[in-house]
Amino acid sequence: MSPMPQPPVPPGVTPGPVPTPVPAPVPVPTTGPAPTPTPVPVPTSGPPPTPAPVAPGTRLAARSLVKRFGATVALAGVDLDIAAGESVAVMGPSGSGKSTLLHCLAGILVPDSGAVLLEGQGVHAMNERDRSMLRRQRFGFVFQFGQLLSELPAVENVALAPMLNGASRKEAMALAAQWLGSLGLAGMETRRPGELSGGQAQRVAVARALITGPQVVFADEPTGALDQATGHDVMRVLTSTCRLAGATLVVVTHDAQVAAWCDRRVEVRDGRVVADVRRSA
Ligand SMILES: Nc1ncnc2c1ncn2[C@@H]1O[C@H](COP(=O)(O)OP(=O)(O)OP(=O)(O)O)[C@@H](O)[C@H]1O
Ligand SMILES: [Mg+2]
Repeated sequence: MSPMPQPPVPPGVTPGPVPTPVPAPVPVPTTGPAPTPTPVPVPTSGPPPTPAPVAPGTRLAARSLVKRFGATVALAGVDLDIAAGESVAVMGPSGSGKSTLLHCLAGILVPDSGAVLLEGQGVHAMNERDRSMLRRQRFGFVFQFGQLLSELPAVENVALAPMLNGASRKEAMALAAQWLGSLGLAGMETRRPGELSGGQAQRVAVARALITGPQVVFADEPTGALDQATGHDVMRVLTSTCRLAGATLVVVTHDAQVAAWCDRRVEVRDGRVVADVRRSA
């Protein structure tokens, strides 16, 4: 096993006003009327089309991803290349397929057709056991309600991830305490999630997601249950920590200001990507 990653230099946890992120450009791909999205054939009769090659430097790629739930087509052919270290906000109306896309990219759901490639490795083709190992060892997750274990103190919630990957309890607890400290939670190690504010609990969730040194962190509405200022604080910590740790970040959000913390914004409508805008440097 590779050595466990140390927490990065405190990722911007200095108190004070939340810095205003550079606003992302409005995701209008062209001037004039909204473009009609190119129809992507959902059925898979006949030979599959040759997928577009994955660009060098791509960490995570989706090719012609289709996912149905009964008659509902949640993903209708998604292609996406996400570079190593890049942060991407996935936006779109409720029901447009954001969470389904995130779950397929993360190997939680298996697409009906198409491919998910992590460093060129086919996640979509792995069996449940390998996908589960992949999620534990190479991915990190932050959800809307943190999903911390309510009966465990903060430090144990964070230590659990390296322990599941084989670290000793002592080593995992020490590293977890370091992570909590680097995320501004020193002194709160023994508090249970119910004894933390929503923002503090999300910082614990960020520490838990990053402690294993994941290649990709997935976050589904990580600020959805927080007020705006606290949400920005969590995004600041999440984006800066991922950047320092070299982790790619995929964040689903409804909030354009939350998306503005990311390098790139992808808009999903009816299971298709309809806009993809990089923040100008
Ligand atoms: N497990 C499921 N069973 C049946 N239908 C599902 C399931 N998961 C998602 N869907 C359907 O697939 C479509 C896309 O859902 P998804 O959860 O990806 O949307 P979303 O963009 O994340 O929405 P929200 O912003 O409300 O979270 C919706 O029509 C939804 O009802
Ligand atoms: Mg969702």
